[in-house]
Amino acid sequence: MSKKYDVIVIGSGPGGYVCAIRCAQLGMKTAIVEKRETLGGTCLNIGCIPSKALLSASEKYEEAEHHFEGMGIETKPKLNLKNMMKFKDGVVEANTKGVEFLMKKNKIDHLKGTGEIVAAGKVKVGSDTYEADSIIIATGSDVISLPGIEIDETKIVSSTGALELDKVPGSMVVIGGGVIGLELGCVWSRLGADVTVIEYLDQILPGMDDEVRKEAQKIFKRQGITFKTASKVTSAKAGSKGVDLTVEPAAGGAEEKLSADIVLMAVGRKPYTEGLGLDKVGVALDERGRIKTDQFFETNVEGIYAIGDVIAGPMLAHKAEDEGVILAELLAGESGHIDYNLIPGVVYTWPEVANVGKTEAQLKEEGTEYNTGKFPFMANGRARAMGMTDGFVKILACAKTDRVLGAHILGPNAGDLIQEVVSVMEFEGTAEDIARTCHAHPTLTEVVKEAALAVHKRALHI
Ligand code: NAI
Repeated sequence: MSKKYDVIVIGSGPGGYVCAIRCAQLGMKTAIVEKRETLGGTCLNIGCIPSKALLSASEKYEEAEHHFEGMGIETKPKLNLKNMMKFKDGVVEANTKGVEFLMKKNKIDHLKGTGEIVAAGKVKVGSDTYEADSIIIATGSDVISLPGIEIDETKIVSSTGALELDKVPGSMVVIGGGVIGLELGCVWSRLGADVTVIEYLDQILPGMDDEVRKEAQKIFKRQGITFKTASKVTSAKAGSKGVDLTVEPAAGGAEEKLSADIVLMAVGRKPYTEGLGLDKVGVALDERGRIKTDQFFETNVEGIYAIGDVIAGPMLAHKAEDEGVILAELLAGESGHIDYNLIPGVVYTWPEVANVGKTEAQLKEEGTEYNTGKFPFMANGRARAMGMTDGFVKILACAKTDRVLGAHILGPNAGDLIQEVVSVMEFEGTAEDIARTCHAHPTLTEVVKEAALAVHKRALHI
């Protein structure tokens, strides 16, 4: 069978399915190819959504276990891991079914199987070949391991296996103190595992504001996680009892032996291009295996485009979504642009970590003069009433123009709070714009306002 489309999108994660919806909205005859049984890609099936379900559930468990009593609620929670996993699976199912519904609603054909580009304008799925004016690659990314360490998804797991454990491990070693390591490390620590995070760098959360990194590590340590920073894992071998690891100082030195019931490998992800036939059609990759595109997301082969984790930029679902929308609009003859400096990043630990724009280190490096405003959650009435006073909001504004250049939040609901600053930055607003905007009382958003006031040394509640 051969069918002709305006657009074929390969991969149904947030980049691919959102792009397909926008293409269909703009009147293009669209198909989406997916090899997994369910739509939604890594994010909905084995990434953002199931991890957030387990983070929410384990957060409640931990609160009931340790914080309810201080609020006058006496209870002894009992973990039923099987049911917690069922809850998580239900959340995933609702989301993936939701995408299926959206595909039908927008009359997007769902082509089931692995998509291979056999020539410009031609995609083979199973034994069928389909034609399209534009092919969009949105195949995302896959986990990476360390040399010589095999992920078996039972004892040495990636994020995928860490979302499926059938019992709480007595001990867990997490390799990599980045986003995945901390989020899933927190889940299993809250549920009772003895978690050790081994991070190659001096501090966890590379790329984030240094003060946030330091303070976050302190808080997670207080919550019970052990950190071994400036350390590298040189071997990990799974045996019948658990996993034996060898760890060395990153700068070299005496090795140390560790063992754990479960090891979580979280040292990053790589673009997923396997089986796409890119070498045959001549699509160029960069030195890190990412598909090279121009500013309009077109590869070196006319009519073949790529978005999301498979190209350069942060591996984030919302970055992929924005690229998908813009590409659809460009294909429809409209214009579009994405400001990569304004893509927020969020780590869904508790407290959460969120950032947008530049860090102090980046501003110093580029020689930009800036003012800093910082305000702690401890001084906010709502945070106190919630019993969640850890962390702070930091706003960085240009010393000459007061334009907001960056914001870094460690605290309750940081992932929601950052959005105000993102919007202000989109409109090229200033710290004073935030400071003079009325913020409801009592809310956590007042901490953002106070940090903006602090840029001009006039915070009110400190
Ligand atoms: P990551 O890049 O965030 O962190 C990897 C960490 O491993 C880094 O801190 C790195 O220094 C460390 N590392 C590297 N080699 C090491 C070694 N040999 N020994 C010890 N530590 C080592 O990668 P992660 O956490 O695997 O996440 C992958 C991608 O998925 C990221 O791009 C992340 O942004 C994305 N993601 C985003 C989420 C969110 O937005 N909340 C949630 C989960 C993933």
